[in-house]
Amino acid sequence: MNTMDRSVGIPAHVKSAKLRNWVTEMAELCKPDSIHWCDGSQAEYDRMCDQLVKAGTFKKLNEKKRPGCFLALSDPSDVARVEDRTYICSNNKENAGPTNNWVEPKEMKATLGKLFDGCMRGRTMYVIPFSMGPIGSPISYTGYEITDSLYVCVNMKLMTRTGRAVDDALGTSDVFVPCLHSVGAPLAPGQKDVAWPCNPTVKYIVHFPEERLIWSYGSGYGGNALLGKKCLALRIASVIGRDEGWMAEHMLILGVTDPQGHKTYVAAAFPSACGKTNFAMLIPPKEMEGWKVTTVGDDIAWLKPGDDGRLYAINPEAGYFGVAPGTNYKSNPNAMITAEKNTIFTNVALTDDGDIWWEGMDGEAPKHAIDWQGNDWTPGCGRKAAHPNSRFTCPAGQNPVIDPEWENPKGVPISAIVFGGRRSTTAPLVYQPLSWAFGVYAGATMGSETTAAAFGNVGVVRRDPMAMLPFTGYHMASYWDHWLTMGRKVAQPPRIFCVNWFRKDKDGNFLWPGFGDNMRVLRWIVERANGGARALEGPLGYMPTYDCLDWRGLKFSREQFHELMDVNRSEWMKEILDHDELFIKLWDKLPKEILSVRELLLSSLWRSAEKWELPDYAQNS
Ligand code: OXD
Ligand code: MN
Repeated sequence: MNTMDRSVGIPAHVKSAKLRNWVTEMAELCKPDSIHWCDGSQAEYDRMCDQLVKAGTFKKLNEKKRPGCFLALSDPSDVARVEDRTYICSNNKENAGPTNNWVEPKEMKATLGKLFDGCMRGRTMYVIPFSMGPIGSPISYTGYEITDSLYVCVNMKLMTRTGRAVDDALGTSDVFVPCLHSVGAPLAPGQKDVAWPCNPTVKYIVHFPEERLIWSYGSGYGGNALLGKKCLALRIASVIGRDEGWMAEHMLILGVTDPQGHKTYVAAAFPSACGKTNFAMLIPPKEMEGWKVTTVGDDIAWLKPGDDGRLYAINPEAGYFGVAPGTNYKSNPNAMITAEKNTIFTNVALTDDGDIWWEGMDGEAPKHAIDWQGNDWTPGCGRKAAHPNSRFTCPAGQNPVIDPEWENPKGVPISAIVFGGRRSTTAPLVYQPLSWAFGVYAGATMGSETTAAAFGNVGVVRRDPMAMLPFTGYHMASYWDHWLTMGRKVAQPPRIFCVNWFRKDKDGNFLWPGFGDNMRVLRWIVERANGGARALEGPLGYMPTYDCLDWRGLKFSREQFHELMDVNRSEWMKEILDHDELFIKLWDKLPKEILSVRELLLSSLWRSAEKWELPDYAQNS
């Protein structure tokens, strides 16, 4: 352990001059009582958890039921990512684009400089060395997070590779992303700390893309505070990827093994609240014997061209920060097993026997629990026991279906990219855009209906290009241009597909069972990406007919399937008008191909019937 007085300095093994200077400067600014340089060891993690228990931040859970697990309850003002307080402070406003908040960098630094001045008084400043991707690998990126939150330290230990090995791999290099974080709650001498320190009114999550620098103030929660995840691995990495010729995407990565043992890797982008973790750990229906899904990543993919002309993906993270409500042994047994031990739960309910509970967990609700705000809770009391955005943080290595290649520094070759959203109307179950450019258009115009978990206004379609709306560190239209460029750069780009698990009938019932049955669609996607499965050309692209899907074990009629796959011209005309709204917003940098594809889509919709239905003749085609 390297706890020291601020004046004592930085451990001798830290050799990077840039790192030493930056930490010294930040300590001068934040004025902590002491500095602790994290070594990333299990002993340090255990000590920190003990300290969090003593501070009242953590409750140790029943060791028999949840070995090595803890529960944290946050301040009610600090429960989610704060998109309206997230900024991309590029030198020019045009480079941040109209979908990001922007403030001139010098002005932002002046504002933040005042807030950070003395913000760690009465607290320890922790320095967390971390690697996104395997330590020392040429595809990984090193970050250093300075934080005054112990909760952040222990979560970062699960979510990234941390510790002394990162310092050693960095050596004298000055290539790392500095990440400064404070909960924004300095303590006056003698002032007692609270269980969840944060600043209830002032929050800033700020990125300086040219400097590759991150400053976050006021929140201790999730992506606001664990700066390796959304801030580094997506917002800053998307800028680095643009400059270096690769892609940082909000995608899960999974492997599909067919009964012959052939493995195909798929990356998939879904906005929040679309069952991304469930899809990453999908269990195929038992009737589809011999098919298997393994997980490489559940949230972020870095995609880089390989020497063989294919796109290779790595998961830069080492853990899962999954949404708890709705997760159960039926919807996602693998996630439940992953979170059985060594897991940090945040904002779920505490049962009387020292276990945890959330809405949608298996079995009956407990007769009594302590809710996420620390109050007594009983079924029918009219309040949720767990916050809708409550989470589990657990090591990815505990996932029973982790892919054996998940830590391969070369990454895994991606054959298919899937875009999905939550749409109760309009979008069919699955289709394959005609080409890379059509696929980029489909990703760029992706929409998803908002849910209570994510945003206030339920059921409104929010355009979320490639599920990257809150995570692209530069102008959204330039990001599309980068996608188009990458398609030309890679000799064998993955095939692109669009899915929608959430279409409803006129009575509001879901048309598709989802979960494990999504394997039927995934099988078609994988076979299609490998040049095997049949399809018909519809107005939006290639589509499977009823007979192209594996229906073993599911009673699902041809009529039901047609209702799911129907392409309604009037609905699609409205849809394209809605795309236009986004294009007009991004007009200054909109790639020409986007408008050309729009024209081709419009013509194809005009030429097809008002209600385009899949023909039935695929059996013989
Ligand atoms: C997440 C998100 O938490 O996308 O992963 O919101
Ligand atoms: Mn995510």
